[in-house]
Amino acid sequence: MKTFLLSLAGVLPFLSVVSSQGLPDPAALAQMGVEWETSQHASPNSTFYTVPQNFSRDLAPGTLLAVEQATNLSSYLVPSSLTLSRIMYTTTNLNGTIQPASAYVLWPYAPAPWFASSSSSSSSPSFPLVAWAHGTSGLFATCAPSNYKALMYHHFVPFALAKQGIAVVAPDYAGLGVSKTPDGTHIPHEYSASPAQANDLANAVIAARAAFPSYLPSTGPFAVVGHSQGGGVAWAYAQRQLEDPVPGYRGTVAFAPGVQVVEMITKARNGGVGPIQTDTLFGVQRLISAGITAVYPSFNFTGVTPVGYERWNILAKVQGCMPTQGLVFAGLENRDTVTLDFTNDSTTLEFAKRTKVGGKPFKGPLLVLAAENDVSLQPEVLESIVDETCEVLEAGNSTESLEYALYEGVNHFPLISASQAEWMDWVKERLSGEAGSKKRDCDAPPKARCTKRRVKGFRTDVSVQFPLPNFLVTEAEAVWQYGL
Ligand SMILES: *[C@@H]1O[C@H](CO)[C@@H](O)[C@H](O)[C@H]1NC(C)=O
Ligand SMILES: *[C@@H]1O[C@H](CO)[C@@H](O)[C@H](O)[C@H]1NC(C)=O
Ligand SMILES: *[C@@H]1O[C@H](CO)[C@@H](O)[C@H](O)[C@H]1NC(C)=O
Ligand SMILES: *[C@@H]1O[C@H](CO)[C@@H](O)[C@H](O)[C@H]1NC(C)=O
Ligand SMILES: *[C@@H]1O[C@H](CO)[C@@H](O)[C@H](O)[C@H]1NC(C)=O
Ligand SMILES: *[C@@H]1O[C@H](CO)[C@@H](O)[C@H](O)[C@H]1NC(C)=O
Ligand SMILES: *[C@@H]1O[C@H](CO)[C@@H](O)[C@H](O)[C@H]1NC(C)=O
Repeated sequence: MKTFLLSLAGVLPFLSVVSSQGLPDPAALAQMGVEWETSQHASPNSTFYTVPQNFSRDLAPGTLLAVEQATNLSSYLVPSSLTLSRIMYTTTNLNGTIQPASAYVLWPYAPAPWFASSSSSSSSPSFPLVAWAHGTSGLFATCAPSNYKALMYHHFVPFALAKQGIAVVAPDYAGLGVSKTPDGTHIPHEYSASPAQANDLANAVIAARAAFPSYLPSTGPFAVVGHSQGGGVAWAYAQRQLEDPVPGYRGTVAFAPGVQVVEMITKARNGGVGPIQTDTLFGVQRLISAGITAVYPSFNFTGVTPVGYERWNILAKVQGCMPTQGLVFAGLENRDTVTLDFTNDSTTLEFAKRTKVGGKPFKGPLLVLAAENDVSLQPEVLESIVDETCEVLEAGNSTESLEYALYEGVNHFPLISASQAEWMDWVKERLSGEAGSKKRDCDAPPKARCTKRRVKGFRTDVSVQFPLPNFLVTEAEAVWQYGL
């Protein structure tokens, strides 16, 4: 995707697989895509995601359903010395219904030296924790990062954190990984319903602590980090923390967050967004239509044209994730796959209202990082949401802090690497000290601290700025394969 979603439409015309054959057969491309995706699964046929019979909708959210203590890493591509666990647990969807979901926990070799406490020993250490919210992986059960060989985002985030001695708990999000309850009821992924995925994140922390109480104590410090779709989830989590706090929370980092995307699509329709981001947003409209349908079944893909719906069904038939989505929609203009009246449909507007992130109070500190050359998300649009949020903080006499930093000359994914020196230190400071421990002028009246700044890169004119996560995917031969 170009983003948060990776719609590859802009990249695909240049791919030989497409251009050399004229108009490709979408079903054949779907098959090719999904075979390659399957080759990137740690276990092509994992029974881990089968929900135990004792699952019930009456369980409390955050209840543990299954634990895989030590995942066999021989089929993964995870740096040696790290280890992995997977858990299944209960969460709540946007409507508050209990659903089963999966998550992974990536363990460091040992806790970071700055964290090692007198109470923990080498045989039973406790770890600082980051709850990681991934970006768009797709809409189907097959698109679970916990079953991708390199966990999706690999060295960008989870490996980077674990190699610094920080444990990472990462929900797949409900509907990804676990696909049905024991009675066969399908669990759809409520794409772009960020408060629902924030529930998945919160409940993954609670369940991981229940599974590993000595390694992850129930009040131990944790920070939240998310990118793109997951940046919106992370910010939604910061809002959720006010209403339904999870102990130990120390702050949130949101990279290029997908917030208020329906509003962004409206802006794009009115010409208020650049042409590249507009094209991406039209691709994203298909995914949001699926997300709204997951919450409101009667919506039934309003928002997608008949030709878009036909291609969507080709994708759904093979349960294709982001790389395959790019292939299936090749040869179509994104704008031809989506309807004009989507953004004034009453269900769309209700969904947008219920899932609104930004322009609301939250529990901070919150660090928002944006990419100047983001193909998915125009930084000016994001900045206006940051401003709206700061006004709300000030009007409410909030003392929370919101820091916004714009990284010059970088794209949607390279932003994460470009800013690692900043965000890694930020996370460590939060996990090692008190929440929001930055020095304050004690004589000044308490007020919200909103700051905005630009970060200049060195030689950004010659650096490689690929719009996809093109890093550590095995055996990738073509650009479309980099979408996971
Ligand atoms: C997948 O697992 C199921 C149930 O264990 C088994 O029946 C099936 O043959 C497996 N398929 C493959 C391709 O291994
Ligand atoms: C479900 O059964 C498993 C295996 O018997 C057990 O470990 C687990 O605690 C049970 N979970 C619930 C929520 O009852
Ligand atoms: C891990 O999987 C590999 C490959 O399937 C297998 O050879 C090995 O025995 C497994 N290790 C354990 C500890 O189960
Ligand atoms: C979720 O709640 C909305 C609003 O009450 C309702 O219209 C919708 O049908 C519910 N979705 C499901 C799957 O029950
Ligand atoms: C959704 O719309 C499609 C195409 O218009 C139709 O074939 C299908 O039956 C509808 N599904 C539901 C659940 O209404
Ligand atoms: C929604 O917007 C479209 C495009 O601007 C317009 O054609 C349509 O009439 C509007 N529908 C409603 C219900 O307002
Ligand atoms: C914020 O503080 C001002 C000045 O002390 C006060 O007049 C106002 O009522 C406060 N607003 C809220 C929402 O508490």
